[in-house]
Amino acid sequence: MIELQRVSKNYDHLEQPVTALREIDLSVGRGEFVAIMGPSGSGKSTLLNLLSALDKPTTGRIVLAGEDIGTMSDDAVTLFRREKIGLIFQFFNLLPTMTAVENVLLPVLLARRAVDADREKAVRLLEQVGLAHRLTHKPSAMSGGEMQRVAVARAFMTAPPILLADEPTGNLDSNSGSEVLRLLRRQAEEHGTTVVMVTHDANAARVGSRLIVIRDGRIQSDAAVPTTVSSASAGGHSTDQGVFAAPTA
Ligand SMILES: Nc1ncnc2c1ncn2[C@@H]1O[C@H](COP(=O)(O)OP(=O)(O)O)[C@@H](O)[C@H]1O
Ligand SMILES: [Mg+2]
Repeated sequence: MIELQRVSKNYDHLEQPVTALREIDLSVGRGEFVAIMGPSGSGKSTLLNLLSALDKPTTGRIVLAGEDIGTMSDDAVTLFRREKIGLIFQFFNLLPTMTAVENVLLPVLLARRAVDADREKAVRLLEQVGLAHRLTHKPSAMSGGEMQRVAVARAFMTAPPILLADEPTGNLDSNSGSEVLRLLRRQAEEHGTTVVMVTHDANAARVGSRLIVIRDGRIQSDAAVPTTVSSASAGGHSTDQGVFAAPTA
């Protein structure tokens, strides 16, 4: 689902050019839930920008959902991103003037006029993340955990094969964070969505099926997360999780 071949990224700063990523090789399959950790400045955001096709590598090849991003026009990349990639951010990035339903509808509204079926789907997604009672609330009337669950529902709206999350629990208390992680994991397990999440929280990282540590623009380690640890860290939801097997790459 995600293929990186010898991907490097340089930032050409006048006084001090920076090599943010150095010849990264990476392959992530359908339904994997990959957590990425690493010190500040190690290249995590740069990597997520490349995976979301927001930025292009300096050298190397990136194939996402079967498409070689480097060969696509800018317009094609924009359409591709809208359909194939869901994004979740640390600070939720909801539109303050819109209700929960409208925020979830946003990916559709960017492409076309919403129809009744879209609204029904947005409501269903909000119900699935436990927000049936918050449909017409605006972000200012919701807690952080609720806002992030709206953002999760929004990211699922187009049923993207790839879901990218940048510190999705960084601004949440641990209960709300666990709930969001549980939703991401369920999406990977039940729908085969490929999830890549950057996090500073080792407990959050253990909810994934695979942990990649990057340092100085290189992959320092890349290993499956043991099933037992992974199940335990879902905290209080273990009975409805089913067997969680670490997939092979
Ligand atoms: N737009 C940019 N211009 C110049 N240098 C950048 C830019 N973005 C990131 N960098 C540099 O690239 C390196 C990796 O940054 P980043 O990917 O943001 O790291 P992380 O997200 O792991 O903290 C850092 O040295 C950072 O200063
Ligand atoms: Mg960063």
